Amino acid sequence: MTLDPLWQPIDIAGVTLRNRVVLTAHGLGASTEENLISTQGLDYYEERAKGGVGLILTEAQNVHRSGRGLARGSQEGWKPEVVPVYRELAERVHRHGAKVFAELGHIGPPDDNTIFLDSFRALLSPSGIPALSTNEMPRAMEEQDFADLLEGFALTARHAKTGGLDGVELHAAHGFLMHTFLSPATNKRTDRYGGSTANRCRFIIEAAEAVRAEVGAGFPIGVRISFAEFTPDGISEEEGEAIVRTLHAAGVFDYFSISGGNLLTVHNQISPMGVESGIWCRSRPGRRSSSDRTCRCSRSTRSPMWTRPRRSSPPGRPTWSAWCGRTSPTRSS
Ligand SMILES: Cc1cc2nc3c(=O)[nH]c(=O)nc-3n(C[C@H](O)[C@H](O)[C@H](O)COP(=O)(O)O)c2cc1C
Repeated sequence: MTLDPLWQPIDIAGVTLRNRVVLTAHGLGASTEENLISTQGLDYYEERAKGGVGLILTEAQNVHRSGRGLARGSQEGWKPEVVPVYRELAERVHRHGAKVFAELGHIGPPDDNTIFLDSFRALLSPSGIPALSTNEMPRAMEEQDFADLLEGFALTARHAKTGGLDGVELHAAHGFLMHTFLSPATNKRTDRYGGSTANRCRFIIEAAEAVRAEVGAGFPIGVRISFAEFTPDGISEEEGEAIVRTLHAAGVFDYFSISGGNLLTVHNQISPMGVESGIWCRSRPGRRSSSDRTCRCSRSTRSPMWTRPRRSSPPGRPTWSAWCGRTSPTRSS
């Protein structure tokens, strides 16, 4: 038995993962005509479970019909028809000893209407600032939009739980809707959803609270954030830490997934080999590695937390996402 913490089990809100190797969410391009996970997608996840990961995240599941996605076939978790699909996913992943959480998200400003001319609708955003990736003008969310989306998060989480999935993660990273609320560059609101770090975190916390009210205790809720955006007016490393502390203080998240970048800095989300190792959480030269930074955050919040070593990690180092928090892992017997 290895004592390397990576291979030790860890408990997340009552759900035990057999190790800390995590398959982070990624769009597979494997959806049915109805925008549900296809058989090919289910096969893919089952193979990953067979391969030994502790936890699988589904690709982001849209929580509301107003969020369609960057590509046709972007998956929709708000539809009731998703429940039997989640059920099959859970069975196929559990069969091999892994757990599976659904990632819940809304695309927001970078959503693309040009491929959905038959169902054109206004894109949602905090402050009506377009995403540079599409340049389409979104509208600022109003009270009813918040109510609708909170309902969508709760509904999609209910579908995940009813379908036998083990938990959910809110996607608040990478320049999509929730991220644009966290970022001072895209959130210029002057109401309770904008301004201070606490206000910019409010929508994410409210969504998590709506999910918790739906699923109850003992069902993990995580959140994925871009710890730093790597753009001058975006989330700095210091602001990233303030966001983690604010979200943690809300007492509703069971773990944090630390990523980086926005739509202008995609190379910090999905890094090519030329990007320096540890860039996710490091925005200034001379900083220690991202893992150090993430672990520091983890120690101060006492929450489980993971980050990503880079693809080119040296031999013997983990090349998949790995738990970084909880320095005293449970010993397997
Ligand atoms: C095609 C593609 C789709 C992705 N979709 C998501 C997603 O839905 N949600 C998310 O949180 N991250 C998404 N990601 C980011 C991945 O989870 C991961 O952070 C990124 O690929 C970097 O990890 P890697 O170096 O191991 O590839 C996606 C990445 C790729 C390449």
